[in-house]
Amino acid sequence: MGKTLILYYSLTGNTRAGCEALQQELSADILEIRDLKNRTGGWGFFRAAIGSLFGVHTKIEPKNPDMSGYANLIIGSPIWTGKLSIAIRTFIDENRFDGKKVIIYTTTNAYEKEKYKEKSRNLVREAGGEVVGYYQVLAREEIDGEKVERSKQQIVEDTMSFMPEIKKAFALQ
Ligand SMILES: Cc1cc2nc3c(=O)[nH]c(=O)nc-3n(C[C@H](O)[C@H](O)[C@H](O)COP(=O)(O)O)c2cc1C
Repeated sequence: MGKTLILYYSLTGNTRAGCEALQQELSADILEIRDLKNRTGGWGFFRAAIGSLFGVHTKIEPKNPDMSGYANLIIGSPIWTGKLSIAIRTFIDENRFDGKKVIIYTTTNAYEKEKYKEKSRNLVREAGGEVVGYYQVLAREEIDGEKVERSKQQIVEDTMSFMPEIKKAFALQ
């Protein structure tokens, strides 16, 4: 039975809430990947969106975390302009995941099309990882024609519904 490490980036807390719930349920270790660029406020969001569109990299911390003791990884990220966030794409591009099972976990305003998910899976595969799952949780929903942010509690509940599949994919049960 392999150990699990959760690596995540979160700007506004949704992905963090889901990943912390996963950590508790899986008794996993968890590591936040921080983007050293300030992405807060309207200007920060705007730069994040433009940078993401153009596929830029950023400076992250930690850059090359020690993942040697882990057979299973969960990589958590918000979706930005249809892609994994800049910090997580940088993290995947600058590390290797050979011999590891990887689950991609994202929070997003709208479910992604399969072709976008496949691009993200391929990033991990190119870095040597075996992708054994891809899970998305909605951070926003439409109620009576209005777009409403979902609560962290709802995000956590949706995340927990994946638990049996995640445990199976990691052969934890
Ligand atoms: C710069 C930026 C770009 C985004 N682009 C998308 C997008 O293309 N599609 C989508 O469904 N949500 C998009 N979102 C919404 C986030 O994916 C969603 O709010 C997510 O839950 C945020 O996670 P976090 O709280 O962990 O940062 C975007 C958010 C930001 C800040």
